[in-house]
Amino acid sequence: MVDAYPPLDHEYALDRDCTTLSRHVLQQLQSFSPDAQDLSALMNRIALAGKLIARRLSRAGLMEGVLGFTGDVNVQGETVKKMDIYANEVFISVFKQSGMVCRLASEEMEKPYYIPENCPIGRYTLLYDPIDGSSNIDTNINVGSIFAIRQQEGEDLEGTASDLLQSGRKQLGAGYILYGPSTMLVYSIGRGVHAFTLDPSLGEFILSNENIQVPEHGPIYSVNEGNFWQWDESIRNYTRYVHRHEGYTARYSGALVGDFHRILFQGGVFLYPGTLKKPEGKLRLLYESAPLAYLIEQAGGRASTGTQDILDVIPDKIHARTPLIIGSKEDVSLVESFIQEEAREKEEKLIARS
Ligand code: AHG
Ligand code: MN
Ligand code: MN
Repeated sequence: MVDAYPPLDHEYALDRDCTTLSRHVLQQLQSFSPDAQDLSALMNRIALAGKLIARRLSRAGLMEGVLGFTGDVNVQGETVKKMDIYANEVFISVFKQSGMVCRLASEEMEKPYYIPENCPIGRYTLLYDPIDGSSNIDTNINVGSIFAIRQQEGEDLEGTASDLLQSGRKQLGAGYILYGPSTMLVYSIGRGVHAFTLDPSLGEFILSNENIQVPEHGPIYSVNEGNFWQWDESIRNYTRYVHRHEGYTARYSGALVGDFHRILFQGGVFLYPGTLKKPEGKLRLLYESAPLAYLIEQAGGRASTGTQDILDVIPDKIHARTPLIIGSKEDVSLVESFIQEEAREKEEKLIARS
């Protein structure tokens, strides 16, 4: 017989500590210094944006003006969804009241958005992908938001934001919000990677996984194989390898955040390589690849372009793209070995011809 009244401590095991996000950030920094307070307040604002976006997504099919396209094309040359715009504005509006952020740079905006009233004291810049995987929205499949925090360097009086053209090692923190069966916020401020689950009845993100470590190797490879004939031979050879060896399984949702989240917990590799038409790939360094690279390194994994660590890449423009290979150390190295092998063969052929 099923016990209709299980003991409370089973049902609410997680409630014992009930560590909220803001408490966690302060604990991580072990101080109430102004910097720690700033980061804690910033994370709270990001959490608020996540809650607002999650709330709208949860009722998307019931409300007017949530699903579908706006009819516009963004700076990336991609069609814009109504949720892309809504989520982009949510981040702006929560940070308008924060005082700490002077600039927001988003995948959906050609230029950074300045909040002039915050600039005299606003020492931080928020970089974000408001909705990642927006093609999933209309079919009620998981999407996410990705963010990174950087310190503003210099005055940026001309509004060029040229200080953002630095490597991902300049990130002070990064994370994502996953809007799945539950809403989760995963973040790092350089002291491990921690996941929080939104308890809708409390309206709070509660700590659910602390110090996440990605397995050294995992079974999953996550890539859009529809691009097979567009790839370099090295990536084709890698996929042939996993097809022919036991122990691999494919998972690809069309939203990087969801695919990354699975790999973070279960191990494996996500790839978005360059293609013949787009050798730089699709994913944007500042809003997608670098924040997730920061997380995976903190979790003991790796992120690479194939020839360079993602966190060492210096972008030439804020919307720059890079190929991305990210996940368990061993699996990222395996993909890189196919790239190195192909480069060696090409070089040998060149030498033989000359
Ligand atoms: P976005 O919705 O922010 O433009 O990002 C979509 C990205 C990423 O989430 C996903 O992994 C990838 O694009 C999917 O692209 P394909 O449809 O080309 O596989
Ligand atoms: Mn994206
Ligand atoms: Mn997006």
